Amino acid sequence: MRITDTSDLWWKTAVIYCLDVETFMDWNNDGIGDFEGLAHRMDYLHELGITCLWLMPFYPSPNKDDGYDISDFFGIDERLGDFGDFVEMIRMAKDRGIRVIIDLVVNHTSDRHPWFIEARKDKTNPYRDYYVWRDHPPRKKEQPVFPDQETGVWMHDPQTDQYYLHHFYRFQPDLNVTNPKVRDEIAKIMGFWLQLGVSGFRVDAVPFLMDESGVQAPEAGLKHPLDFLKSLKAFLGRRSGEAMMIGEANLPRGAQVDYFGGEDGDGLSMQFDFITMQSLYLSLARNDPAPVVKALESRPAIAIESQWANFVRNHDELTLDKLTDEERQEVFAAFGPEPRMQVYDRGIIRRLPPMLDGDPRRVKMVYSLMFSLPGTPVLFYGEELGMGENLSAGSRLAVRTPMQWTDGPHGGFTQFERPVRKVVTGGYSPEHVNASSQRHDAESLLAFMRTLVARYRASAEMGWGEFTVLKQDQPSVLAHSLVGAEGHMIALHNFSGEPATVTFPVEDAGPDHQVVDLLVDGVVLRVEDGTVTLPMDGYGYRWFRVIGPDDKRLG
Ligand code: GLC
Ligand code: CA
Repeated sequence: MRITDTSDLWWKTAVIYCLDVETFMDWNNDGIGDFEGLAHRMDYLHELGITCLWLMPFYPSPNKDDGYDISDFFGIDERLGDFGDFVEMIRMAKDRGIRVIIDLVVNHTSDRHPWFIEARKDKTNPYRDYYVWRDHPPRKKEQPVFPDQETGVWMHDPQTDQYYLHHFYRFQPDLNVTNPKVRDEIAKIMGFWLQLGVSGFRVDAVPFLMDESGVQAPEAGLKHPLDFLKSLKAFLGRRSGEAMMIGEANLPRGAQVDYFGGEDGDGLSMQFDFITMQSLYLSLARNDPAPVVKALESRPAIAIESQWANFVRNHDELTLDKLTDEERQEVFAAFGPEPRMQVYDRGIIRRLPPMLDGDPRRVKMVYSLMFSLPGTPVLFYGEELGMGENLSAGSRLAVRTPMQWTDGPHGGFTQFERPVRKVVTGGYSPEHVNASSQRHDAESLLAFMRTLVARYRASAEMGWGEFTVLKQDQPSVLAHSLVGAEGHMIALHNFSGEPATVTFPVEDAGPDHQVVDLLVDGVVLRVEDGTVTLPMDGYGYRWFRVIGPDDKRLG
């Protein structure tokens, strides 16, 4: 067996699943999800086939930003369980081949964190420099991330008559990472959770953490803001042979290269591809794959250890900030026409199936595409069932409703009469959408997702292969290939509801090659003159493996 350096890069072909312990499964019936509940659902996740669990913040928190306002980085919110439960959950995951990564939210703390309580007391407090203070807000006004709640990023603190920086809510003061003590604290936090068994971090709000105005500390060898990111990665490498960092960095392509650490790949291991995600919605609105093709082709080359994370929805608003104003309006009109569906003038607070009017062909086409794109797929809990949103929860909470396990009260999430969040009502309520009934239904979205996960895992081309858009003459169809040492795959996706007959090229294939369907019906297609002709359904999706005469891979 060949053991290469690259065999350790597990994130290149992972299937990541994001959940919030608080809304996943309540085991002690107090209305709040807990680690014990998650542990009891580990077999469900294993059946789905995911290989990496991403846990949203579970730390002690005043919970004014759903746990992204942390008051103790070394603790566990006691409503969710204790360290025993946490470690037990990790063990159960590992037993099933599932790694666990956790949210690392160190751009800011809660204003209830003991560091900030100390820091704001007086200017000479030893914790003062853990945060960023100014006598006056800088003249150049920076936009806050949540413009409906905040008007600026500097907050006056009467006690000392100075202003502190907060890119997010005013109760989330930004940490000062130019302070070596703060950098040591961050390393200590990472070291702590690594020791408890996590395999990496989803690093929150990376661009703000790296904020140029802050991170220049030549005395610490940090000449460039990104040196700090690289120092975290180096620390990770020293403490763990396998850990990775996936960054939330919604940035233009050029900056993404820097955040990956360029050709050295010594920055973030993975980045969410926000640009492709946003372009996907424009493509869906237009029934035209061109925008998503453009986004994919604009991906810069990255180092062997770097990887793109593909996603359709996450726990935040579906941000459309990288589209032009007109494009954004097109997507709003198609998928979030009512003001209550929109937020911050840039995003939609809905889940995918309601946006697509529940059309199962279209929903499946989108997930088929997501799994077939070069990179690593990331699911948000409930996507595998086609869960909808609760618009009346408002803003980003609309998609953070309890997981729907059964058709019983509160979707089987809890037996307590007042769950921490209300379950979705209407057409996407647990009566219509739940895990229990879909598990026994071969036609369900859950069954389809399992197939996608299984095929993805058995097709390392998707994680490693070279991506090419294939030339063919159906404008509504995206045909692409992934070719590498791992094999040769071709995927086709029809963005239109109209059937289309596609003739696509199969690179380097002669008459003795087989083109085997992996997803729909297992048919073997004939290659004639280097091409294959295939009738596709409206919103059809197909995956093929190209198998040569000497190829031992399974079709
Ligand atoms: C990130 C998170 C978001 C959170 C914010 C502040 O954007 O995804 O949910 O509110 O950071 O931590
Ligand atoms: Ca509970």
